[in-house]
Amino acid sequence: MILALLIGSIALIYVIAIIYFHCRYPELRWDWKNINTKKMNFPLGFSWGTATASHQVEGNCTNNNWFLWENSKDENMNPRIKDSQRSGIACNHWNKYKDDIDLIKKIGVTHYRFSLEWSKIEPEKGKYDKEVIDHYSNVIDSLIKEHITPVITLHHFTNPIWFDEMGGFEKEENIDYFVSFCKTVFSEYSSRVKNWCTINEPEVYSVMGYFAGIFPPGKKNPQLAVETLKNLLISHTRVYNALKSLPNGKESSIGIVKNIMQFDPYRRWNIFDWIVCRITNKIYNGIALSYLKSGTINVNYPFFVRMNYKSDNAALATDFFGLNYYSHSHLKFKFDSYEFFENKFFDYDTMTDMPYAIYPEGLYRAIKQASKINKPIIITENGIADAIDDRRSLFIERYIYAMSKSIKEGADVRGYYYWSLMDNFEWAEGYDMRFGLYQVDFKTQERSLRKGSRVFVNIINESK
Ligand code: BGC
Repeated sequence: MILALLIGSIALIYVIAIIYFHCRYPELRWDWKNINTKKMNFPLGFSWGTATASHQVEGNCTNNNWFLWENSKDENMNPRIKDSQRSGIACNHWNKYKDDIDLIKKIGVTHYRFSLEWSKIEPEKGKYDKEVIDHYSNVIDSLIKEHITPVITLHHFTNPIWFDEMGGFEKEENIDYFVSFCKTVFSEYSSRVKNWCTINEPEVYSVMGYFAGIFPPGKKNPQLAVETLKNLLISHTRVYNALKSLPNGKESSIGIVKNIMQFDPYRRWNIFDWIVCRITNKIYNGIALSYLKSGTINVNYPFFVRMNYKSDNAALATDFFGLNYYSHSHLKFKFDSYEFFENKFFDYDTMTDMPYAIYPEGLYRAIKQASKINKPIIITENGIADAIDDRRSLFIERYIYAMSKSIKEGADVRGYYYWSLMDNFEWAEGYDMRFGLYQVDFKTQERSLRKGSRVFVNIINESK
C-alpha cells in the first residue's frame, strides 16, 4: 500500500513537472505554408548591415591565440581545425578592404560591423603599432567616404599571445590590459566611429574554449568556463564605463554582443531532457541576461558549477543589446559524467551545413528574451552556412520575417546585420562552412554575389 502510494506520488509529480515545463517553455512552430513572408515592415531609420571578424577575413593574424591553436595538435595528435586547415591569408581583406567596401556598397547595406585585431594593434604588452592603427583608420575613412557606417567590435574571440600567456580572461586581474587597449583605440577612432561592440559572444568563447575544448585554450573545466564568462561580462562593463567617460563617449553607442541559442528537449515527455535543457539554458543564456539586467549571477549546480556574483555597476550598463542568432538545439539526456547530453535532430528539420537546423521562430523567441533587458536590440549576426546555396534565400526571408513580426508586436529592434559579407575562416570548421553573401574562391580571391543573397538585397531595397 505504502509502496503504491509512493509510486503514485512520484508519477504525479513527474506528470505535473512535465506539464509545467511544457506550458512554461513552448517550442514555437509556425505554419510557414500559410505565412506571406513578403509582408514585412521596418521602422524608419532601420539599419541594414553585414559583419565580419578580423581573424576570419584579414589574413596573416600570426600573433594571436588562434594562430597557435591552428598550428597545434590535441593530446591524440589530431589537428585542432578540420582537415588541418589554417586561416593563412584568409580573404586577404587586410589588402583588399577597398574592393570589399565596394561589395558592401553594391548590396545596399549601410552598416559594416568588423573587429579590430588586438594582436596586430598591440603586438607586445603596452607597445602599439602605429602602422596598424593607421590601417584601421584608413578602413574607417574609406567606409565613411562610401556612406557606410563603421561598427567596431573590440573583441571577437582572438587574444594577443602575450595576453593569453598571462592567463587571458581566465583571470579577473588581466581585464585591465583589455580596458587599456579599448581606451587607446577608442581615443583614436571615436570622433569618426559612433557604434561600438565590446565583447562578441562571451558565452561562445567560454563554452567552446573551456567546456567543449574546441576553441583555444581547449580546456574542459565547467567551473573555469563560468569564471571566464563572468570575467568577460565584467570586461564589458569596465570597457563600457571607461569609454563612456572619454571624449565622444557619451555620444557613442556601446553595447555587448550575445549569442542566444535555445536548448529544447528532444523528448518533451522526458524529465531528464528537460533538466539538462534548463541547466544549459541557464548557463548559456541566463548568466549573461541576468548579469546585464541586474548585475547578478546566481548559478548553483553542485558538483558541476557554482557562481554567485553581484556587481554594483553592471545593471543596464549597455546602450544596446547586440543579438547574434543562428538556431536552437534539441538535447537528449545521456549517462555521461562530463557531457551529459547529446545534440539530436528530427527528420523534419531542414539542416544548415552547420550542425543545426533552420529555425526562424527561434529568432522571434530570442528577441523576446533579449527584450527583457529593456535596451534597443541590434541583430549583430544572423546567417547560414550553405555551400550549395539552395537554402540561403529561404533562410534570409524567414528569419527576417520573424524579426519583422517581433517588431510589429513592439520589440525595439533597430538593425539587422547578415553574417557574413563573404565566405571566411569558420574557426574549428575551417573554410568548409560558407556563410558569405559573396562566395569567395580562395585560390583566386575572387568574390561573387550568391544567387541566394539576392533576396537580402531586395528586402533592403523594398524597405527604403
Ligand atoms: C561568431 C562568428 C561565426 C558565426 C558562424 C558566431 O558565433 O561570432 O565568428 O563565424 O557565429 O558560426
